[in-house]
Amino acid sequence: MSHPFEAIVLGAGAAGLVCALTAAQRGRRVLLADHLARPGKKLRIAGGGRCNFTNLHMDASHYFGANPRFAVSALARFGPWDAVEFVARFDCGFEERDQGKLFLDVSADRLADGLLDACREAGVTFAFGEPVRSLEGGEIFTLRTESGVFAASRAVLALGGPSWRGAGASDLGFRLARRFGLAIQPPRPALAPIPWTGAAGLSPADLSGISLPVGVSCGPERFVDDLLFTHQGLSGPAALRATLRPAFASAPLRLDFLPGEDIFDVLALSSGKTLARNALAKRLPARLAEALCADVGGRRLADLTRAERDALATRVKDFALRPSGDPKQARAEVTTGGVDTAAICQKTFAARPAPGLYVVGETLDVTGDLGGYNIHWAFVSGMAAGTAL
Ligand code: FDA
Repeated sequence: MSHPFEAIVLGAGAAGLVCALTAAQRGRRVLLADHLARPGKKLRIAGGGRCNFTNLHMDASHYFGANPRFAVSALARFGPWDAVEFVARFDCGFEERDQGKLFLDVSADRLADGLLDACREAGVTFAFGEPVRSLEGGEIFTLRTESGVFAASRAVLALGGPSWRGAGASDLGFRLARRFGLAIQPPRPALAPIPWTGAAGLSPADLSGISLPVGVSCGPERFVDDLLFTHQGLSGPAALRATLRPAFASAPLRLDFLPGEDIFDVLALSSGKTLARNALAKRLPARLAEALCADVGGRRLADLTRAERDALATRVKDFALRPSGDPKQARAEVTTGGVDTAAICQKTFAARPAPGLYVVGETLDVTGDLGGYNIHWAFVSGMAAGTAL
């Protein structure tokens, strides 16, 4: 058996890199394993290559999971300005965009490569580019890869979730967790485009390319963000965020195409001689206005009955739609669900049923909203476990 390590960190994504670095800087002998030869791929492609790494509105209300309070204490210990300070260690500055999102002001490769270099300098041993064969537990954890056998008294599952396989994702984290007696909350692809073939006069073929802010209601939750119609259905932040909501699988989506506006005030801006679709087109893209007015668009406002006006108002302010299929795992930025946090220590991320085992990052049943919340969670949880190893 080679190398007497104190900790084996499985997965060199954002969470695993931060965990290994933190532990090694505290003097721990760490092995970091990943099946990719050049890991940290999701970190590199996040935010279109600029990695939206945190958010100024950081708090637990932006996270989803069976225990929504689980993230509270870890987030209290590491906030957005801590994240800014952390990335600055790798010569990465930031730029603020909408809704408090902080992106790197340089390529995300600099952060990923900086983390790898820092791990190497801190003495972390890499086992990259080799599939994991097995991880056995007990007093000592034994990791078998294609070419090596490694042992340590502690092991960290930092293997992410199965979404976006092109970036090295797999369900190994969930499978190993199960083997160590941990429960898994049902995984579901999220932060993904919504397949939709159209309904009630609205069709993706007619609307493709239109982007506009909409109010989205999914179950009890409501938010406003940008929606993009595509040939396959709905995309843009509004659609992606909808897929993360717990009610997404069961409740229809309700869209408000004029968030913050009263539809009757909008119609009142036009004279009675104006065609309904032209009146709406003063506030909405013409193709969408025409589709929403499918029944009455060619008629003048003055000629609409009260019932027709009310029906038009409902289509504009409360358009109900059901997806025509499930979001695709290959295009989902995250997987919701994962290792049940009921068995995980909020401070150290140790798994109670398996002494010496830790679980961090997206492998846990903690999923952040769009906007930098997931990379932040990977940092926070990786650092907490790295401090405890
Ligand atoms: P992560 O998936 O990063 O790392 C897991 C590691 O385990 C990988 O290196 C993988 O190769 C390795 N691994 C997996 N299976 C293995 C196996 N069988 N054997 C060995 N190794 C294995 N979030 C955010 O906050 N801001 C953003 O801008 C974006 N943008 C974004 C864009 C795109 C396209 C995607 C796909 C995702 C995002 N995200 C995001 C989400 C974010 O990237 C994600 O939640 C975190 O990277 C999760 O970090 P982890 O370290 O937990 O897993």
